[in-house]
Amino acid sequence: MKYNVGVVSLGCAKNLVDTEIMLGILDSNGYRIVNRPEDAHILIVNTCSFIESAKQESIDNILELAQYKEAGNCKLLIVTGCMAERYRDEIIKEMPEVDAVVGTGNYHEIAQIIQDSFGGNKVLKYGNQDYTPEEGLPRIQSTPPYTAYLKISDGCDNHCTYCIIPKLRGKYRSRTIESIVSEAKMLAKNGVKEFILIAQDTTYYGVDLYGQYKLTALLEELCKIEDIKWIRLHYCYPENITDELIETIASQPKICKYLDIPVQHCNDAILKRMGRRGRKKELLQLIDKIRVRIPDVVLRTSIIVGFPGETEEQFNELKEFIENIQFDRMGVFTYSQEENTPAALFEDQIDEKVKKQRQNELMRLQQKISQEVNRNKIGRSFEVLVEGYDKKLGFYYGRTYGDSIDIDGKMFFPSKRYIEPGAFVKVIATDTYYYDLIGEISNEFTE
Ligand code: F3S
Repeated sequence: MKYNVGVVSLGCAKNLVDTEIMLGILDSNGYRIVNRPEDAHILIVNTCSFIESAKQESIDNILELAQYKEAGNCKLLIVTGCMAERYRDEIIKEMPEVDAVVGTGNYHEIAQIIQDSFGGNKVLKYGNQDYTPEEGLPRIQSTPPYTAYLKISDGCDNHCTYCIIPKLRGKYRSRTIESIVSEAKMLAKNGVKEFILIAQDTTYYGVDLYGQYKLTALLEELCKIEDIKWIRLHYCYPENITDELIETIASQPKICKYLDIPVQHCNDAILKRMGRRGRKKELLQLIDKIRVRIPDVVLRTSIIVGFPGETEEQFNELKEFIENIQFDRMGVFTYSQEENTPAALFEDQIDEKVKKQRQNELMRLQQKISQEVNRNKIGRSFEVLVEGYDKKLGFYYGRTYGDSIDIDGKMFFPSKRYIEPGAFVKVIATDTYYYDLIGEISNEFTE
């Protein structure tokens, strides 16, 4: 009998790549991948465990899918990923519906795990956090065909005091340049035009394997792949952004002038308690340097508010910093007290209400900044990667070099001519919403 498998992927893009590899392995082992849980004989939830809300989302999904075991086709419910690695004992104890618990370094064994689970005993596979995927594992892309994530490493060697991820994902392990380039070529052959490079810390790439930063060398190789139009960088830890990297981004036309640099805070005392290496002065100098060398750069960051001990004064310093820098995009998170992290033991925890207020305040500020940033784009022409057509609005939409998939804004524009998703067109920005742009297509199709 051919079994149907349904997978829910939660958490970050790195987890999504693990999901895609599981899908590839299952497909090549004769399983049929289905989208509707009611059609599945086997249901897998690839979980996240980063902060409280992510854990809750994972639990909700497991409980929701467990219902298909009671009434439906489902015979096996499998929990994989970061929450499985972190709370394996609790899942086994508290969730009797779960048939297998699979940690972050065992997802490649999924076909065998399913077979073993059919034997009737619970299968528990974890504690292999330092696993690096071998070359050539099959992968089924779940992003649109023109965009793919490239996971260049796994694990993390930073010691941020608020973060549990190094415990769940092990030490930093770079893949070889050859292995990444060979995967990239295969994806390009299948129609990918945009790569999004991801890792826990993209800029640290190579140090463990080659003894030095190797991100620029990797980028140079990826730029040689003919059919690739855009290469985008996420999760760039500020201290590892070298002059060489800035030069490469500035000079390589295929590399999007877009940098995602999670700074988390600007106050030196907080940065020190967070276990971050850099300080405010260095952050300011870095951002200045990037903007001088890459004038049109779009900067994204993420911020944590309500870290233990954050005073009103330190929060106001952060607000001023954000007002001055004017990041193009910003995600604001409230600090989450995560057990087994050093910061969870700090005594001066902040009230949830205060955290939420600070988050709202920064988001309101960013909304204003974002609209201002967008206003400055009116009249400029942008190359847009077309993603689809919004029937309600009667507009096509897509992304500019400054918009990453799922997290940033979009450019909306009308067109009388049909445009295939994945095509690149030139659009002149004519108006703006808070985060999105409206534009008019110029006659010129770039591809
Ligand atoms: Fe969540 Fe694991 Fe990613 S904790 S954010 S899915 S690395």
